[in-house]
Amino acid sequence: MRLPRSLVPITLLLGLELALCRGQAASQYCGPQGQAEKLHFTRLGKGRWLDPQTQPPGSLDPLYRMVRGFLDMVQLNPFPEGLIRVALNEPSSVRTSDVVRYEAGYVVCAVIAVLFLLIVPTVGLCFCCCRFRRRCGGRIKVEHKSMACERGSLMSFLLLITLLLLTGVVCAFITNQRTHDEVGPGVRAVPGVLNSLQGLVSDIPQELQAVADQFSIPQNQVLEELDGVGVNLGSTIHTQLRGTVYPMLASLQRLGQDLQVSLDHLQLLNSSTVYLQDQQEPLSSSLQDHRHKLLSLLQDAQCQGCASALSHSQLLELGANFSQVPSVKSVLQKLKGVPEANFSNMVQKDNSTFNTLPVLTALETADIVQELKEKVAQIPEEVKTLSKGFPGSEAADRWRRALVEAENSSRPYLHMIQRYERYRWIAGYVLSSVILLVVICNLLGLSLGLWGISAREDSSHIEAKGEAGAQFLMAGVGLSFLFSGPFILLIFATFLLGGNIQTLVCRSWESQELYQFADTPGNLPPSMNLSHLLGLKKDVSIPSAYQQCKEGAPLWKVLQLNDSYDPEKHLNINKYTTWLQEQMDNFNIDMKDLDLLNEAAKRDLETFRSSGIQKIDYSGFLTQVQKPMVKMDVLKLVKELEKLGQAQTDSALGQQLKQEAQALQTLYQEKILPQQTHVVTLNQSARALSSSASNVQLLVSETLVTSNSLKTELPIRAHWILRNESECFLNREMAYFIQYRDWAREMVTEHIATCQPLSEALDNGRVILCDLIINPWNAFWFCLAWCTFLLIPSIIFAIKTTKHFRPIRKRLSFWEGLDFCPDYPRLPTARG
Ligand SMILES: *[C@@H]1O[C@H](CO)[C@@H](O)[C@H](O)[C@H]1NC(C)=O
Ligand SMILES: *[C@@H]1O[C@H](CO)[C@@H](O)[C@H](O)[C@H]1NC(C)=O
Ligand SMILES: *[C@@H]1O[C@H](CO)[C@@H](O)[C@H](O)[C@H]1NC(C)=O
Ligand SMILES: *[C@@H]1O[C@H](CO)[C@@H](O)[C@H](O)[C@H]1NC(C)=O
Ligand SMILES: *[C@@H]1O[C@H](CO)[C@@H](O)[C@H](O)[C@H]1NC(C)=O
Ligand SMILES: *[C@@H]1O[C@H](CO)[C@@H](O)[C@H](O)[C@H]1NC(C)=O
Ligand SMILES: *[C@@H]1O[C@H](CO)[C@@H](O)[C@H](O)[C@H]1NC(C)=O
Repeated sequence: MRLPRSLVPITLLLGLELALCRGQAASQYCGPQGQAEKLHFTRLGKGRWLDPQTQPPGSLDPLYRMVRGFLDMVQLNPFPEGLIRVALNEPSSVRTSDVVRYEAGYVVCAVIAVLFLLIVPTVGLCFCCCRFRRRCGGRIKVEHKSMACERGSLMSFLLLITLLLLTGVVCAFITNQRTHDEVGPGVRAVPGVLNSLQGLVSDIPQELQAVADQFSIPQNQVLEELDGVGVNLGSTIHTQLRGTVYPMLASLQRLGQDLQVSLDHLQLLNSSTVYLQDQQEPLSSSLQDHRHKLLSLLQDAQCQGCASALSHSQLLELGANFSQVPSVKSVLQKLKGVPEANFSNMVQKDNSTFNTLPVLTALETADIVQELKEKVAQIPEEVKTLSKGFPGSEAADRWRRALVEAENSSRPYLHMIQRYERYRWIAGYVLSSVILLVVICNLLGLSLGLWGISAREDSSHIEAKGEAGAQFLMAGVGLSFLFSGPFILLIFATFLLGGNIQTLVCRSWESQELYQFADTPGNLPPSMNLSHLLGLKKDVSIPSAYQQCKEGAPLWKVLQLNDSYDPEKHLNINKYTTWLQEQMDNFNIDMKDLDLLNEAAKRDLETFRSSGIQKIDYSGFLTQVQKPMVKMDVLKLVKELEKLGQAQTDSALGQQLKQEAQALQTLYQEKILPQQTHVVTLNQSARALSSSASNVQLLVSETLVTSNSLKTELPIRAHWILRNESECFLNREMAYFIQYRDWAREMVTEHIATCQPLSEALDNGRVILCDLIINPWNAFWFCLAWCTFLLIPSIIFAIKTTKHFRPIRKRLSFWEGLDFCPDYPRLPTARG
């Protein structure tokens, strides 16, 4: 029989205990399916976002830095707050001396420009006059050794300066074009930005509504998951209890079989014993009869060789006495009617009941789930009013007015800026082209002159090339003189404007002094009170508003909206979730159906336990079984008697012995053999019961204890699992609403009702004006000024070099070494 099974219920109990402890300690353990899925919401509020403008790093950056450095040197004064205040509030009372003091650097530059404007054309005029009188710009009189050296260095200098001019003019072309390219889009961007800012407040209710509408996403998810919650809960309980219930059922089934086997053996024991006892007396008397007969025959004097048979015949009596075996009657009496229950059927029924747990749970929770679904399908009042509660209409009106006004009033200026920019661009183009012409003249002149000189060394007759070179150089000189005035005027005008924007606006904008200035009461005229125009909150300054917006603060932190609006209040879904939680607590399942041991089976087991089957002294049976049935081997005696019968000389005696042998043979066949089969049964049943009875008894006791404890603990455990699982479920469903809340909060504060576009617009304005427009603008006049001031050495070297290109003639020594030795009648500049 199967022995170690007695341990099964103990381990079951231990496992149950452990599981219960774990169930209490880690009541929040949720399986992998306990994780909420990620919901996908539609992003909102993108429309108003401005692309942040940045100045891409370029090859001109060093130039821009140099120009800014130069301007920092020109304008050493800090931001002139007082001066600007007066200029904005009472333009008429601005004192010139203050302006001059502030603009000292520019004044110095202006003086230089004026000097240039006066001196260069004047010198040019003089030069022109003296050329007309053929008194200057002549030719070399004598060729001597040091001349070649002087000519060489002059040409090198001129070439160097021409190359420097070339770089300057290339830079001027580029920056002129770049300025023009940036001003157009920059100016055109202004209305667009103002337009998009208009939506900053007025589009909000609509977008808030879209946020509120997306509450249906977690809602639908939850509704969907509620559909399967009953079955899922039941399955989880089933899965977790399976480990306890299945082994218990299997053990019950085996116990039922064991019980049956034990009972069968006991019955066999009884019937065999009764049979043997009944047959014992007749057998005993038959044996006695035969013994008497044999003894009388064998004791006969004529019996030959009968001594051994005689002694054998005396043993012809019963060996085992079955009256001495213990009685099983009382035990059998007690076990009457056992088994009352069909264990196998019971186990199958229990198993199928247990296996329908998911369905049963679904049925039992159906009402609560239905109620939950109805509630979940409603949108909470708070979320519904997310949009309606937004108090933006007044602020939106003010914003729209302010921005439309700004757009209206800026429009003429924007047109004007574009027009003047076009003039500047054309002028820049023309003047740069003139410088390019000068460069070309210089280069052509230099190369022709060089050609001429090399030709002169070969033969002194062909000197037209040298002459032409000199003419080109003189043309360049003429152009330089002629355009020096326009050059310096354009440079100074653009310098004054660009420089002041850089030093006055950009520098203080970057350091945020400008915001500070706008924030100080009295600085701006009351009509330009920005705090009021923008509707900032009373306690928020312009710099801090800018800073907060930059950090992504929501509008209501900065703007004076209705203070009572708080999105948190609208996104507070606690009431909703608390209700759900309460409903989930109502989940319950009835485990009473799952009584693993029915009453009949329990009675069977209890009867068996008290039957005393293990107390029967089975060794009493075995003692009798081990004894021979008859003390003498009857068949052996039969053979001996037959042999003896044949050996007798007295045939009558022999015949009688033979008959006796025949009678004994019959007795054996008819009485002893059937009894021996019962002895074998008795042997088997007694041995089986003696080895198993106490084990089965133990198993029965333990099963009774286990089933009793399971009866109370399975529902408790199922309840725990249900609590834990419904809490997990609730948490998962809550996670959907929390996902929505977090998303909505982020959307509302960071994307929809954020004032970041405001700071972004300001930053973009600064980048466009200062980095994209003013940088190349300033670089343009810088390059042009570079060229213009280089024109002076260019003129000087060009004039000096021309002389060396012209044919050499002997002259009066008086003129020697002077420049005023005109020989060439025409000046190219005279034409202009
Ligand atoms: C109970 O049912 C399950 C599933 O149908 C099966 O695997 C198991 O063997 C059954 N147990 C018993 C004792 O019948
Ligand atoms: C024992 O066996 C005999 C013979 O089969 C039967 O008559 C008797 O009723 C049995 N006793 C019990 C208690 O069952
Ligand atoms: C068998 O045993 C019983 C009781 O111990 C006794 O009364 C009876 O005489 C015995 N029978 C034989 C044949 O020894
Ligand atoms: C803007 O200008 C248009 C026409 O120039 C005018 O009709 C409109 O009233 C102006 N709006 C505001 C707010 O000044
Ligand atoms: C703007 O006006 C408000 C009152 O409307 C005043 O408190 C504030 O000081 C003013 N700000 C400036 C910069 O003038
Ligand atoms: C601010 O909101 C509250 C409640 O929504 C409302 O009663 C009140 O009139 C609003 N005030 C303004 C100025 O909009
Ligand atoms: C009783 O059974 C045991 C084991 O099955 C066997 O060894 C023994 O010989 C049997 N005794 C008789 C008398 O049959």
